[in-house]
Amino acid sequence: MTHILVNVAWPYANGPRHIGHVAGFGVPSDVYARFERMKGNDVLMVSGTDEHGTPILVEADKEGVTPQELANRYNRVIAKDLCDLGLSYDLFTRTTTGNHEHVVQELFKQCLQNGYIYNDTQKVAISPSTGRTLPDRYIEGTCPICGYEGARGDQCDNCGNELDPDELINPKSKINGETPIFKDTEHYFLDLPALAEANLAWLKSREGWRTNVINFSIGLFAEVKPRAITRDIDWGIPVPVPGWIDNPNKKLYVWFDAVIGYLSASIEWARRSGDPEAWKAWWNDPSAPGYYFMGKDNITFHSQIWPSEILAYNGRGSKGGEPGEYGRLNLPEQVVASEFMTMEGKKFSSSRGIVIYVKDILARYPVDAVRYYISIAGPETSDADFTWSEFVRHNNEELAASWGNLVNRVANLIYRNFGEIPELDEDSMTSEDRALLEETSAAFDVIGGLLELHHQKNALVEAMRTVAEVNKYMSATEPWKIKDDPKRLGTVLHVAAQAVSDCNHLLAPFLPHSAQQVWQALGGSGVFSPMPRLEEVDDLDKPGFSYPIITGDYKLGETVHPWESEPLVAGTPVDKPSPIFAKIPKEAVDEELARFEADLAKRQEAEAERLKAAKGQLS
Ligand code: MF3
Ligand code: ZN
Repeated sequence: MTHILVNVAWPYANGPRHIGHVAGFGVPSDVYARFERMKGNDVLMVSGTDEHGTPILVEADKEGVTPQELANRYNRVIAKDLCDLGLSYDLFTRTTTGNHEHVVQELFKQCLQNGYIYNDTQKVAISPSTGRTLPDRYIEGTCPICGYEGARGDQCDNCGNELDPDELINPKSKINGETPIFKDTEHYFLDLPALAEANLAWLKSREGWRTNVINFSIGLFAEVKPRAITRDIDWGIPVPVPGWIDNPNKKLYVWFDAVIGYLSASIEWARRSGDPEAWKAWWNDPSAPGYYFMGKDNITFHSQIWPSEILAYNGRGSKGGEPGEYGRLNLPEQVVASEFMTMEGKKFSSSRGIVIYVKDILARYPVDAVRYYISIAGPETSDADFTWSEFVRHNNEELAASWGNLVNRVANLIYRNFGEIPELDEDSMTSEDRALLEETSAAFDVIGGLLELHHQKNALVEAMRTVAEVNKYMSATEPWKIKDDPKRLGTVLHVAAQAVSDCNHLLAPFLPHSAQQVWQALGGSGVFSPMPRLEEVDDLDKPGFSYPIITGDYKLGETVHPWESEPLVAGTPVDKPSPIFAKIPKEAVDEELARFEADLAKRQEAEAERLKAAKGQLS
């Protein structure tokens, strides 16, 4: 048994999440965690909402609420959506907890003491109307290198060069169009150059990473500069240094704190479990791998910033040093980053209305249809496009026709002819029967091997190929035509039911909700695939602060079934089955496309209004 840490990217609590987000970090992490639990490994899966920094501040201003109010609102919305998707977090928490603040400050202080954090000045852009700092990506102007007019303060999308905001020609705030002023201010920097050698050595020792991810990660080290990890901002974690800690206008940079969430959430989980030291088995034991799931826009932070923070904390850069109170922390085993998903050929954009929110798709379609689509057509190693017609096609042809019909047919034949799982008469077994059961048993190793390597698409294709084999067996043996040989009929149906049960185990990481129903359709009782639950809890440290967490009980042998063929027991009662997968009517495609176009038009109008109003306030 291995301790496996499944670390899932933390969604910003600045709005509801859409299908592109959960295709990147959500469903793949859950598929992996569920599979490893079935294998008997001790999985700890953590995440939460990312609630600091300008993404939260800007949206709070837009909605006219405080950042904490905004975070409270969307933390709740997001936690519910992710729970409804069946994502089996051991703990889904948030970054405004007292525990997180404490852990982040401890890491900062140790990195400072080890000499990897130091103080210097930096030019920052300030909004003259609000006095607030304008983050780099909220400044737009002309690129000094290629002359492109839509360059951002961090980078030019036209020529790809990295920029500083004060290099832009004619810089303007994207929020309200005003011209920022630039000021030198004091900040803390993470000394990435002093950590680069160790960071790169770790990267080069990685095996089995996706090609794009490892190439991009190593490319980050072509030029390494120190990075400011504090901001002139009034929303974030206080900088734990005398003279700074009480300064309302200086806070830690959101990314410095967010990545520490993996550790703080593990600690919070342990504190809530009654064994406050329990997290250490996943963080201090070098044989416990940590897998990090995210979209590709987060790679920099998980291949460079977080590993460098860990190395700085451990005292493993060029300046030496000692680990702090949490001991020597494990570096990631793998950054499992996916590519981007578009929608109907367009880039997802909430502000432009190119979006389908998790809540909305789950309100109209079964959750496992959504999980299936993401798993079979998601952006695992290349960009992917979400289209309604493909969504409906995958559901109808694969889930409903191939898998759903098989389950229903087998359960129905058993119910009508026996009312219970029939006896397997070994003597009347044909080579066809044996070949099928050998095939479904062997599939566990094949598909398990693919899942271990994070080749989830291939794993699912292979599982569906196994389903197709069972369908072929049904067509070949035609049990509905066996009229006066109950022994043979029983054997065929027993073999078919066993093969269906095996396929159901193979599909369970992808389709946990329907796996439970298939299990019951074959007479199974108790929990087959456990579901997460929302629980309202009090903050462990901040009096009067409470929030929803996602958690659950996912123990092998109690709620989780093993990753192997579990023999069906003859005589187990089987009821009349009701269909588990339904076809989606073809008209749904046109309805969804019409809705998509209408939303698009509405959002574009609203966004134009908003910008006009913001500009009006200035004059
Ligand atoms: N909030 C970030 C995003 O949505 C992801 C943060 S992942 C973290 O892109 F774990 F590092 F926090
Ligand atoms: Zn340019």
